[in-house]
Amino acid sequence: MELRVKRASRIDLEITVPGDKSISHRAVIVAALSNGVCTLRGFLPSEDCMHTVNAMRALGIKIEQPEPTTLLVHGKRRLLTAPDKEINCGNSGTTMRLLAGLLAGQKFESRLVSDSALSKRPMDRVIAPLSEMGASVVAEGPERTPPLRIQGGSLRGIHYQPSVASAQVKGAMLLAGLFARGKTTVKQPIPTRNHMEKVLNYFLVRTTTEDDGSVTIFGEQVPESRDFDIPGDISSAAFWLVAAGAQRRGHLLIRDVGLNDTRTALLGVLLRMGAQVREAVDDVEQLEPRGVVEVTGVPLKATVIQGKEVPQLIDELPILSIAGALASGKTTIRHAEELRVKESDRIAAIAHNLRAMGAQVSELSDGLEIHGPAPLHGARLPSFGDHRIAMAFAVAGLFAEGETVIQDAECIRESYPGFEAVLEEFTNPKRMQISTPVIGSLAPAPAEEG
Ligand code: S3P
Repeated sequence: MELRVKRASRIDLEITVPGDKSISHRAVIVAALSNGVCTLRGFLPSEDCMHTVNAMRALGIKIEQPEPTTLLVHGKRRLLTAPDKEINCGNSGTTMRLLAGLLAGQKFESRLVSDSALSKRPMDRVIAPLSEMGASVVAEGPERTPPLRIQGGSLRGIHYQPSVASAQVKGAMLLAGLFARGKTTVKQPIPTRNHMEKVLNYFLVRTTTEDDGSVTIFGEQVPESRDFDIPGDISSAAFWLVAAGAQRRGHLLIRDVGLNDTRTALLGVLLRMGAQVREAVDDVEQLEPRGVVEVTGVPLKATVIQGKEVPQLIDELPILSIAGALASGKTTIRHAEELRVKESDRIAAIAHNLRAMGAQVSELSDGLEIHGPAPLHGARLPSFGDHRIAMAFAVAGLFAEGETVIQDAECIRESYPGFEAVLEEFTNPKRMQISTPVIGSLAPAPAEEG
């Protein structure tokens, strides 16, 4: 599928975004381990999350889906049964790594397979700690890549310091730790999104987090069944926040979006770049804060993104690179070598596509230097089979002269069903819904550039 994008009209819009991907995966898994029926609302029915749903079904859990965004998960008190065939994780790295942790705790053998892109991604980061806990996890691909063959069983809790800051690794270890004897502690080099901890805690599983960021889970607990409303995905909102934030006097309001502070670093970057950004949490009852985000656009200024901030906005770096190309000055992204092992080599993909649109970009081993403001022109761009590259460059197309075509854009369905409909609202003023500011009164954006 090709996605055709024209220059945006003046943006003044109020929207919501689909459910959070990271929370959706985790909620299904923990609900499936609970002691009863859990209704999950606001679930993200994207391809990635459906791989997790189907995996849990293959492990003997009944999951009904009366509506696309509502699941009834029939928890069986941690009782999972051996799958009768291999489990396909598609292109979902989160599914594969979280399931590796879960399956490491089961007494049966299972095999996790994937599509060709995920088959190239590193799995050593979960194989090493799960093996140390006592599971047999064998990577059948070259250089410890998928498929994974897992024979789990009697795990022991360990204290582990992963070398990469990865929420997927932490999540895998906490799920394995739930089935282990004693306690399991993960001490990450830099804190990452804390959804695994929060979802476990919401289902009344005890974990502790120390000041140094290390997270501990005590084994052999049974999650308590509960209903759960999943907030909108701030990483999906990010595309539109940049689209509005980079347009002088563009205005956008997003309601009911997740505002967990391990995920909102993007808002700080947009502020640094000069955009007016407000957030207001209006609900924390279910441990995952949710609320409203509002942005008013200005001509953006370049910034530097590096260090501890990186894991907190790792999925937003493609769209922040577009912001960098539109901003005046040199935007630098460093310490982001993890981008090379995402759904594509995102550093190479961003550099390739930005150059094709006329921007000046230097590729670094762990990031990018982007010189702006670039007078972007439309181009035919590969998606590299990567949903966030496809969506980031669709947004770039909103700022380009002429038409931009994103090739192989079907990958967008992995995380954001409905993306094209919102994109259409950005280019077709007839359908626009005018929004009024809700968070305090925003000062008007500067009238003149600079
Ligand atoms: C995710 C964690 C991140 C992120 C991915 C989702 C998660 O990956 O890039 O899209 O839900 O745990 P890493 O933890 O490997 O950095």
